[in-house]
Amino acid sequence: MASAPLQAIPADIVSVADYERRAVDHIDHAALAYLQGGAADEYTIKANLNAWSSYDIQPRVLADVRGGHTRCTLFGETLAHPIILAPVASQRLFHPDGEYATTLAAAVMQGAAVISTQASHSLENIANQSQGLLWFQLYWQGGRDATLALVQRAEAAGYRALVLTVDAPVSGARNREQRAGFALPAEMANINVPPISLPSVPEGKSAIFDGVMTVAPTWEDVAWLVKQTSLPVLFKGILHPDDAKRAVAIGAAGIIVSNHGGRVLDGVSATLTALPVIAAAINGAVPVLVDGGIRRGTDIMKARALGATAVMIGRPYIYALATAGALGVAHLVRLLREELEIAMALSGCKTLDDIHGDILRRVTLEST
Ligand code: FNR
Repeated sequence: MASAPLQAIPADIVSVADYERRAVDHIDHAALAYLQGGAADEYTIKANLNAWSSYDIQPRVLADVRGGHTRCTLFGETLAHPIILAPVASQRLFHPDGEYATTLAAAVMQGAAVISTQASHSLENIANQSQGLLWFQLYWQGGRDATLALVQRAEAAGYRALVLTVDAPVSGARNREQRAGFALPAEMANINVPPISLPSVPEGKSAIFDGVMTVAPTWEDVAWLVKQTSLPVLFKGILHPDDAKRAVAIGAAGIIVSNHGGRVLDGVSATLTALPVIAAAINGAVPVLVDGGIRRGTDIMKARALGATAVMIGRPYIYALATAGALGVAHLVRLLREELEIAMALSGCKTLDDIHGDILRRVTLEST
């Protein structure tokens, strides 16, 4: 039985890893498997986590960094730091306030949160009770009309950008959660949109190619979609430089290098590996964001050094949400921001724009 969330932050929580350890007591066993698990053997989850240690920071001493800051501007809005809360579905699984707590924490910390199509409160209620900057994560709704209707609801509710997730039209088996018998409680299902109806697949045909993928979007669909809204549309789930270039060519306002936290297709590369390749391909045309395995302020600095404008975190803030609600999430963002500030100060970087590739050293077998 999961313990109730804490009302105050214990003094021994000083890192993301501490929240992960603590959260285990506050999350039901099956929901924890859903949160922590990934596709198949979870190779990609491990790759995401490990990739950050393939670079070391080379500190620079004696720099005058007085007046430094972590501010970051995205689509005309200034954030106090580049740490964005990634879309995570069904947050009432982890805390009774769910997305309300997450958005409160993002606002208090002067950052941004991305609300999932599969949120456990209505997208309108979340926007109404929030004082902060919110983006809406969009899943394609099986066809153009239904998708456009959802976009128009997000616009009317006041979301400031759309995050179009393109990497998950169909998901690989998530063995860990299946073994744990996870099932989404009925009161959290289909809050924002009805389930997408799939065509019946004739005998002998593929449930994937002739079923799910027939209601998945194509490049033509998303090119059309981008033209239907005045909001910036970020494409989330890009790992190939040619896809990044194609997305920008059809009007993407930003690219999010992501593999969905290793939850969709196992065996894909760590996002950190893809990041510099995509940043080079995009060459500053639009902001590039990255998520997957970011657990420390130094990881955020490494991401900046390799071409990211900002980062998103997923599981870490859910651990904090489960442990201590909005207070926990705000505290976690503060911890990461302070770690980033220390890393910047000790590397001679006053602002995020001072962080360049030369502060990193690639770890090779010979150098370890
Ligand atoms: C996710 N993620 C996700 N992404 C998305 O576009 N829409 C969604 O509804 C969800 N839901 C979701 C649920 C859970 C439980 C997790 C853990 C993740 C993926 C998420 O936005 C992000 O890409 C990853 O979580 C980043 O990796 P880390 O930070 O969890 O390692």
